[in-house]
Amino acid sequence: MNEQPIGIFDSGVGGTSIWKEIHALLPHENTIYLADSANAPYGPKGKQAIIELSKKNTEYLLNKGCKIIVIACNTATTNAIDYLRANYNIPFIGIEPAIKPAALQTKTSTVGILATKGTLSSELFSKTSNLFAKDIKVIEQIGNGIVELIEGGKLYSEEMKALLKIYLEPMIEANIDYLVLGCTHYPYLIPTLIELLPNDVKIIDSGQAVARQTKAILEKNQLLNTNILKPKNEFFTNDNPEILKSLLSDKYKVEYLAF
Ligand code: DGL
Repeated sequence: MNEQPIGIFDSGVGGTSIWKEIHALLPHENTIYLADSANAPYGPKGKQAIIELSKKNTEYLLNKGCKIIVIACNTATTNAIDYLRANYNIPFIGIEPAIKPAALQTKTSTVGILATKGTLSSELFSKTSNLFAKDIKVIEQIGNGIVELIEGGKLYSEEMKALLKIYLEPMIEANIDYLVLGCTHYPYLIPTLIELLPNDVKIIDSGQAVARQTKAILEKNQLLNTNILKPKNEFFTNDNPEILKSLLSDKYKVEYLAF
């Protein structure tokens, strides 16, 4: 079992930002990454549709023999992790916006959060937000169109910059000192966000925390890979492989697969 891969899925290419953190912390692990780009974005879809897509991705990864599944998607986590945990007998790691550290550290008592509609409207997000951020001001912004631009290969476009300017303006006016990235596609925006935000605004995401949690759960279940020879890292997408490839180093192969 220990040599079986870690399965990772996202609505598209963004979850590679999480794969990179996992691979950096657990370089000996075999991994399978699934980009459901043909169905991206998940954000505007309702809870039931997100559960159905998450089931499909989970079953694909289970058929490949994965020992643990990382839901590298805030939208799928906040809408489907309870269902998945209740219905499949395998550990699941999810990702949620890092609202807690932002709320604990803010000096202006005002933080911004950029996430999908599916995440911001989820019960899980409102629970976490009520628990940790009820005494501060949280400026929520749905990132309409961002995932679509990244999936379309327009990460560094003028269109993206213009969109982000509009989304950040109310946050800057409200004097945020933390911006929480609540979608795994968004860490790829960091260079552009740094350009657009005042210098003293800090950007946080949950990527490293997810990698640490993955390691802790593998350790707890005695599932860490002990065979440290040549790990295999496989990447699959059901849409244009070039977009996924563009976010990875050249040594990785990306395969098209109609899943
Ligand atoms: N990467 C997904 C997330 O973390 C994007 C969701 C979408 O496809 O809208 O939420």
